[in-house]
Amino acid sequence: MSDKVIIFDTTLRDGEQSPGASMTKDEKVRIARQLERLKVDVIEAGFAASSEGDFQAISAVAAAVKDSIVCSLARANDKDITRAADALKAANAKRIHAFLATSPLHMAVKLRMSPEEVLEQAKRSIRFARNLAEDVEFSAEDGYRSEMDFLCRVVEGVINEGATTINIPDTVGYATPELYGEFMKTLRTRVPNSDKAVWSVHCHNDLGMAVANSLAGVKIGGARQIECTVNGLGERAGNTALEEIVMALRTRKDYFDMVCGIDATQIVPASKLVSQITGFVVQPNKAVVGANAFAHTSGIHQDGILKNRNTYEIMRAEDVGWATNKIVLGKLSGRNAFKQRLQELGITLEAEADLNEAFTRFKSLADQKSEIFDEDIIAIMSDSAAAE
Ligand code: KIV
Ligand code: ZN
Repeated sequence: MSDKVIIFDTTLRDGEQSPGASMTKDEKVRIARQLERLKVDVIEAGFAASSEGDFQAISAVAAAVKDSIVCSLARANDKDITRAADALKAANAKRIHAFLATSPLHMAVKLRMSPEEVLEQAKRSIRFARNLAEDVEFSAEDGYRSEMDFLCRVVEGVINEGATTINIPDTVGYATPELYGEFMKTLRTRVPNSDKAVWSVHCHNDLGMAVANSLAGVKIGGARQIECTVNGLGERAGNTALEEIVMALRTRKDYFDMVCGIDATQIVPASKLVSQITGFVVQPNKAVVGANAFAHTSGIHQDGILKNRNTYEIMRAEDVGWATNKIVLGKLSGRNAFKQRLQELGITLEAEADLNEAFTRFKSLADQKSEIFDEDIIAIMSDSAAAE
């Protein structure tokens, strides 16, 4: 049987860290309901200690969501963890997510703590969190740039204290797929109690490799939770995009041999909702959710698609929530696509000569316009009728 991958959505927390993507309480609840329809396993609703507003938003999400686990981020200290637990009181299922940086740079410069102090604080915080929740995740912030021996000690320590998920973030998007996958694998092999927790990946997209790194973390490294955001929203260049990771796992199940519980038909509605609420426009050529992701422009491709969609499509537009794929008529289109569109518009040309003549008019208009819409075709056809 294929292993299950847990989909942990952090649109409402890391996604909100995109400059300008701040969300109100009501907006977070609307997105959370859509994430629940999408059937994500875990919804990270925010960072309770960061502001009163975020505390209220997490509480509202916790009360609204029934089927997904609701999570709050917390720094690894008693005050933050208590705040997270309070915000999650109404949740059917809750998770506290505590983080502490473990890289030499972050420990020395940001935390100004010695590695031994970090180790003790990490363990203490998880012990404390486990008194407030059964489900506790520990994130070693900047984990990928941490020193392996030290990271192994931290991870072993927090698992002994009861951490149920261990997340190894590539906080600054520095990893490459093979290196990140191998890093996770080495960690998992060297930590003696590694099988007592679920391992998780959290990749940032600074070099455009967040999705590839996450997949390698799963395939090579053995992680079974992926942290991601709708439309890849997130700090700086963003996070692993939920839509891409889910469709990669599904489309290449032959290779990954993993399943996840996502209802993919809810992907496009989720993408549109997040875009509309945050004001972040989705680029047209964005995989899966971009307006052009299932659009065909070249005549050769259009002809292939009309004969069999598998020629140029590896996924179905309908499976991810689009109404259909798109044949975009323009100067590159061929006769077959033009004829098909005429039929869809209820226009039948019996004589081959009539079709040729209409196609010539279409081509000459297409040389002047980037896209030919149905209204243009109707106009071309009524002009030809008037000329007869
Ligand atoms: O990128 C990161 O390291 C994070 C952690 C807080 C999980 O977002
Ligand atoms: Zn992050």
